[in-house]
Amino acid sequence: MQTIREANQLPSALVALRAGGRSLALVPTMGALHAGHLALVEQAKRAAQRVAATIFINPLQFGANEDLGRYPRQERADAAMLEQAGCDLLWIPPPEAVYPPGFATRVSVAGPSERWEGEARPGHFDGVATVVAKLLCAVRPEVALFGEKDFQQLAVIRRMTLDLQLGVEIIGVPIVRDADGLALSSRNAYLSNDQRERALALPGALKEAAGMIQSGAAVGEAIEQAKARLGEAGFERIDYVALVDAQSLEPLDRPAGAMRLIAAAAIGGTRLIDNLAVEMDAQS
Ligand code: PAF
Repeated sequence: MQTIREANQLPSALVALRAGGRSLALVPTMGALHAGHLALVEQAKRAAQRVAATIFINPLQFGANEDLGRYPRQERADAAMLEQAGCDLLWIPPPEAVYPPGFATRVSVAGPSERWEGEARPGHFDGVATVVAKLLCAVRPEVALFGEKDFQQLAVIRRMTLDLQLGVEIIGVPIVRDADGLALSSRNAYLSNDQRERALALPGALKEAAGMIQSGAAVGEAIEQAKARLGEAGFERIDYVALVDAQSLEPLDRPAGAMRLIAAAAIGGTRLIDNLAVEMDAQS
């Protein structure tokens, strides 16, 4: 695996990767990699002949009171994991390569970015859309892969690449969970053992609510039950629990089409998100 840092090293590295007309997949990350990221690389290898990854902790997607300063940084370990997973190129741009002096552009996606994370983290999706647009324009892959764990982010990126006609296929990769059900996240590193134990209420509450909806319970009742369970487990703030349309992210008050239960809540100051597909059987 070749690792490069400067933007001016990128064009020749890409020419070498693409020699003979090979296709390229991109896995953008902010580092602090875990098995969820490696699943993206695995899938990328099936989707294209060469795989490039980026590590860039994007300041634009962090709010003023968020964890930019303490976001886990472990570049060496990340590079070793990517190499082991079969990644061909790693680009770790310095901030000024992505946002040169005077940078003044924001990519803002209406619709899927407006609710939920968009309300809880103003400006977050502008930061995500801007950096992903920049990375896609710089690398020009045929395919780019993102985890379904950030389900709304995936919807925002799909909309943005369609609207800007970037000509890249966006592949969403299912959530990777620990054996006990907690979705893998770089932010899980902030949890104490006790908080981590309590955090299991998040996937538990989503599973329970999905089961209730599938059995015919009112959506509102299932959501209230999920919130109560999170409160009992010690989550000090619940930003949302909602049943949404899987594409538009609009809330649903009764089951319809492709749906997701989505949730965000904070425990011990660590904000966690999770989501679950809700499938109704044909009779429902
Ligand atoms: O999901 C992430 O790690 C980030 O939001 C992304 C897509 C790499 C953009 O910074």
